[in-house]
This record gives sequence, structure tokens and C-alpha cells, in this order.
Amino acid sequence: MHNTKVYIETYGCQMNVADSEIVMGILKNHGYDITSDINAADVILLNTCSVRDNAEQRIYGRLTNLKYNKTQKPGLVLGILGCMAERLRKELIEDKKIVDLVVGPDEYRKLPAYIDVAFNGGKGIGVQLSRTETYEEIIPYREDGLQAWISVMRGCDKFCTYCVVPFTRGRERSRKLGSIVDEVLQLSDRGFREVTLLGQNVNSYYDELHDFSDLLAACAEVDNGMRVRFTTSHPQDFSDKLLYTIAEHKNICNYIHLPVQSGSNRILDLMNRSYTVEHYLQIIEKAKKIIPGVTFSTDLIAGFPTETVEDQNMTLELMKAVEYDGAYMFKYSPREGTKAFKMEDDVPEEVKGARLQEIIDLQLDISLKINRNLIGKRDTVLVEGFSKKSDKFLAGRTDTNKLVIFESVNGFKPGDYVELEIYKATSATLFGTVV
Ligand code: 5AD
Ligand code: SF4
Repeated sequence: MHNTKVYIETYGCQMNVADSEIVMGILKNHGYDITSDINAADVILLNTCSVRDNAEQRIYGRLTNLKYNKTQKPGLVLGILGCMAERLRKELIEDKKIVDLVVGPDEYRKLPAYIDVAFNGGKGIGVQLSRTETYEEIIPYREDGLQAWISVMRGCDKFCTYCVVPFTRGRERSRKLGSIVDEVLQLSDRGFREVTLLGQNVNSYYDELHDFSDLLAACAEVDNGMRVRFTTSHPQDFSDKLLYTIAEHKNICNYIHLPVQSGSNRILDLMNRSYTVEHYLQIIEKAKKIIPGVTFSTDLIAGFPTETVEDQNMTLELMKAVEYDGAYMFKYSPREGTKAFKMEDDVPEEVKGARLQEIIDLQLDISLKINRNLIGKRDTVLVEGFSKKSDKFLAGRTDTNKLVIFESVNGFKPGDYVELEIYKATSATLFGTVV
């Protein structure tokens, strides 16, 4: 008898990546082996995303493939974790007869018990949400590396009208500062050089004693050779204290992901985003003053119900005003159970597509302009590894999260900080020489 082998595939956001590491941590503690070879697995788990319909369609496609694995290996347990498990629950087991396990984001501690149920021919279903679960003391299973995600809070209380997350991940709750700082310390000891603090809305982090600025400062102070990033922020909870904390710590990255979603106040109101474009721009201005060299990225949704050409143009204007370094851009996708689902999805698919393309094209222009302005300037990168195209070149990231390719000289290796001068730029990549 060999130990039971588990293979896990992760879809969707970084939160799911962090959750999969927690799941692997729990399973390892229960004597399971983790395998990266799907054919060797006794249990296959998909950690899924429900944020847009196309994310779910991809998983359905994958399940159809996996049916074959099950016919090849009777007794193989197939499970769905994450947001789709929470959203679709029993439906997944009843409709997709091949699924044995459906376990939502707050029930991972019980996963070993549900797997036992499945091995004994039953169906393991755990989809309770919790007001307190943070997996605080679980040590996530991570391969050695340079960069790690750390989940610091779970859930979301914002209820943006398009978003399914409050329903799939439940209410906001924060992990204790001490447990997070301990995790950063362990990662530093293992040679990690960068951590990203994760939550659906990290700015509302509060552990009864400390706010997010306190947490960020405490993490940054663990090891000043370790970069600290964070994501995602909501404009509503973005405090001056946080801006000063970023400015005061050299190793907290000067890069803020601040989703705006739309540049139209009317649409923002329908989205229940609780800020106006004017308020948002004030935060950007203030951040630029307090943190010299700060850069921004954002999320944008094209084609929310009732969106007009005027609304779209306001989004384009806002993008030009802020000059984002990067953006995650999406077509609106109606999600059952959300408030917006009750509104008519009245922007035709082609119009949504065309508006999204217009947003993408503008962002490419802006990124190219920003990157070209960096030619001749110097910046420090954290070396991540060889460039994708050649072992003669290394790839590193600036504090502002830009990828820079440079010739491999002086024996530089992953984890080193290297100062470069930029000589060439595309919208996605910079090229530098060692100074
Ligand atoms: N349709 C399109 N995009 C969405 N997002 C969230 N819900 C939806 C939806 N129903 C986007 C938002 C959010 C990001 C994580 O995903 O831009 O910030
Ligand atoms: Fe969804 Fe809004 Fe919460 Fe983000 S802030 S997870 S978009 S409800």
C-alpha cells in the first residue's frame, strides 16, 4: 500500500493559489502525498473560480476530459473545491455524475474526512461558510522559491452588485497579525525574497488590534531584504496612514492595485462601488504626492447593464488621467444571485467585445508610453530566473512590478538585486544593461 496521492489543479485568482497551498498543507498533515503527476493520483482536485461565466465553462471542459481518467482508473476520486463548489453545491454532483467531492472555501479542514467518504463510495459535500475560519495556524505547503502568497483575510463585505465573491467566500474576517508575521519570518529563513499579502479587500484588514497599515509595516520589518506587496485594495478603505506606511518602508513596493471598474459615476453607483471618480482621482493624486514614483494598476469591466457610449468614454478618460501601468480588463458577465443579475444584461455581446477591445488598445498605448519614458533611467530588479527565450538572459522585476530582461553577467542568480539601465521598451517588457 502506498500513501494516497493527491493532485491539485488551481484556477482563478491568487487567493485560490494560496488556498491550494493551505489544502496541500492540511492533506500532508493527514499523511497524504502531493503529486504533480496527474496519472499517479488517487485523488484529483480542481480548485475553481466562479467570478465570470467563462471561468466556469473552462472547468466544465476540464471535467469532461477527466471523465476519461476515471474510466481508466476506477476508484479515482474527483473533487471540486473553491468558488464553484460553493456556488453550485449539490448540482455539481447531481449533474456531473463524475464528481465525488464538493468542498467550499471554508471547509478545507474537513477535506480528509470527505475524501474518506468518497473512498467508501459516498459523496463528500461540505459547503458551509464560516464567520471565523482563517486557517491561521495551518502551514501552507510550498515548494522552495522566491515569491510567496500569504492570505491575510478572507471573504468580502462590499457586495458590489456584479460580484459573486461575497456569496462564494462569505463574510470578511482577518487572521491575527502575529501568525502572519511568523509566516513571513519562516519564508525569509527559507530564502524567499518576496511576499504578497492577499485578501479580497486587504484594506479592511482588522484583527481587533491592528489595521492593514500595522500589518504591512510589521511584515516589512521582518527582513528588509524581502519585498512586500499586497492585493487587492478597495478605494473606499484606502487610508492616508497606508500611503505613509508604504512611503516609509523601502521594501514595501511602490505599486498599488486599485480596481476602479468604471469611469462613470452613474455606473459606479449601479455597481455599489461607494466612491465617485473624483474621490478615486483624489486618492491617486495623494498617493503620487506621498509616494514618489508610485505606480498603479486596476480592474475594469466593459458592458455593465445600461452602460452607454458616454459611460465608456468616461472610462477611457479616466484611464488617460491615471495612466495605469497595467490593467485587468473584463467583459461584464451576469452572475446568478447577485443584484446586477436582476438587471437586464442589455449591452449586446458585440458591443461589449468592441468596448473591451477599445479599453485594451488604450491600455497598451499607455503602457508603451510609460515604458518608453523609462529608457535611459535606472532601476533595481529582483532576479527571478532565466528569460523565457534564452538562458543567456535573466529576467527580473522592478519594485513597480515591471519585467526587465538583461544579459546574464557577473554570475547573477535568482534572488539577487541588480541595478539596471533601461535601453529598450515594449508595452509589456523592458530591456536593461547592468550598471
Ligand atoms: N463580470 C465581469 N468582471 C467581474 N469581476 C468581478 N465580477 C465580475 C463579473 N460579474 C472582475 C472585477 C474584479 C475582478 C477580480 O473581476 O473587475 O475586480
Ligand atoms: Fe467582489 Fe467587490 Fe468584494 Fe471585489 S470588493 S470581491 S469586486 S464584492
